[in-house]
Amino acid sequence: MAKTKTFFQCQSCGYGSPKWLGKCPDCNAWNSFVEEREVPSGRKGSFQPSTKTEPILLQAIEGISEKRTSTGIQEFDRVLGGGVVSGSVILVGGDPGIGKSTLLLQAFAGLSKKTGKLLYVSGEESPQQIKMRAERLSIDSEKIILLPETSLEGILDAAIKIKPDAMVVDSIQTVFTQELQSAPGSVGQVRECAARLMLHAKRSDLPVFLVGHVTKDGSIAGPRVLEHIVDTVLYFEGDRGHSYRVLRTMKNRFGSTNEIGIFEMSDAGLREVSNPSELFLSERPQNVSGSTVVACLEGTRPLMVEIQALVSQTNFGMPRRTSIGVDFNRVNLLIAVLEKRAGLHLGGMDIFINIVGGLKIIEPAVDLGIIATIASSGREKPVEPRTCVFGEVGLSGEIRAVAQAEMRLKEAAKIGFERAVIPSGNADKIKAKQGIEIIGVRNCDEFLKAVLR
Ligand code: TYD
Ligand code: MG
Repeated sequence: MAKTKTFFQCQSCGYGSPKWLGKCPDCNAWNSFVEEREVPSGRKGSFQPSTKTEPILLQAIEGISEKRTSTGIQEFDRVLGGGVVSGSVILVGGDPGIGKSTLLLQAFAGLSKKTGKLLYVSGEESPQQIKMRAERLSIDSEKIILLPETSLEGILDAAIKIKPDAMVVDSIQTVFTQELQSAPGSVGQVRECAARLMLHAKRSDLPVFLVGHVTKDGSIAGPRVLEHIVDTVLYFEGDRGHSYRVLRTMKNRFGSTNEIGIFEMSDAGLREVSNPSELFLSERPQNVSGSTVVACLEGTRPLMVEIQALVSQTNFGMPRRTSIGVDFNRVNLLIAVLEKRAGLHLGGMDIFINIVGGLKIIEPAVDLGIIATIASSGREKPVEPRTCVFGEVGLSGEIRAVAQAEMRLKEAAKIGFERAVIPSGNADKIKAKQGIEIIGVRNCDEFLKAVLR
């Protein structure tokens, strides 16, 4: 086989060089060189379509509903937007050991009930190791084919020969193409391999799952372009110390983003958690100060989570502020609002905030929970255990309405809460009875009076 010519190109300005350079002589960017394939002269691009395309009237296009196959795991299906779409490429990222391989093997077991052959390409584990995992998960399907292979050409050959109904490539960082000289896992290799797998997926209508490693700073290793190439990006997250895992959508061309699926890692694989609120509240202390329940929303899913705070006298000059699970800057901002607008003296206090269960909440509706918890701990007054809160706090101490109030209230009532203290902007709009007492508040003072009786 003739070797394809490659060169190195700066990703920020496009400067080309036959050798790798640490610093671009043209735009002075550091570490920006990536190996690229040289396009042979005569061909203008490697991905030229074979047929000529014509512009079409939007009206004239017939809508087709994409074909979806259920993985047999409801939580996974929901995150995908209702099942696996044929011809789509799905990137599953996550820390090592979080359970990506386990999830995909279990999804294969579910898929195999409805499809033909399934191909599991593993560049990391031997077939024996995968067999051991399958035994542990009691998966015994005659349709799952294992392929220990890291060469892209080998994988594509096998996929063409076997014609599977779905394929997993575990992981994309171990795959390499002979056309590039750089090592597997490098930006050039990962991008090239993903693009070629994508092309194959689209051509043969084959859904492909790519497993991607996560770097120390939390993004999927390799280029960000990988996220642009694929149809769906899922992150599998969780805390090592806890057994549950959250599958989160970052991008989905076939469904909504911000959807989550919750699983629990047991000794027989991942189990779906269909009622997460109960799980997160199961060990909640009663009548203790510094604990509040917030009705949060994760995608379309309401979730009741407990926020804890510990406010204590500072022993050293500088007060310490720590937050786990919520944005640190947000917490500092809310502490300032409490000082200025609600008259709490927190200047000489250490403040620690934690979301129970290792969850991460980014939506602003959590603000009221943080304020209530800090005030509760600061004043040594417990929040009544059957009361929940949600709402955003503005800098002048006003409480702002948040989205999907009814959905949050429904979940709270379902779990057994009797009172909800919420923004009056939301409370005024609620018409139907929600089976829960609703208290609308306008500012921090009103709020603290209502919540810390
Ligand atoms: P794995 O799927 O190999 O993670 P990844 O592919 O993301 O690296 O799962 C690894 C962890 O899950 C491993 O530490 C063992 C644990 N595990 C269980 O607790 N129960 C099980 O049934 C299985 C299969 C794995
Ligand atoms: Mg793995």
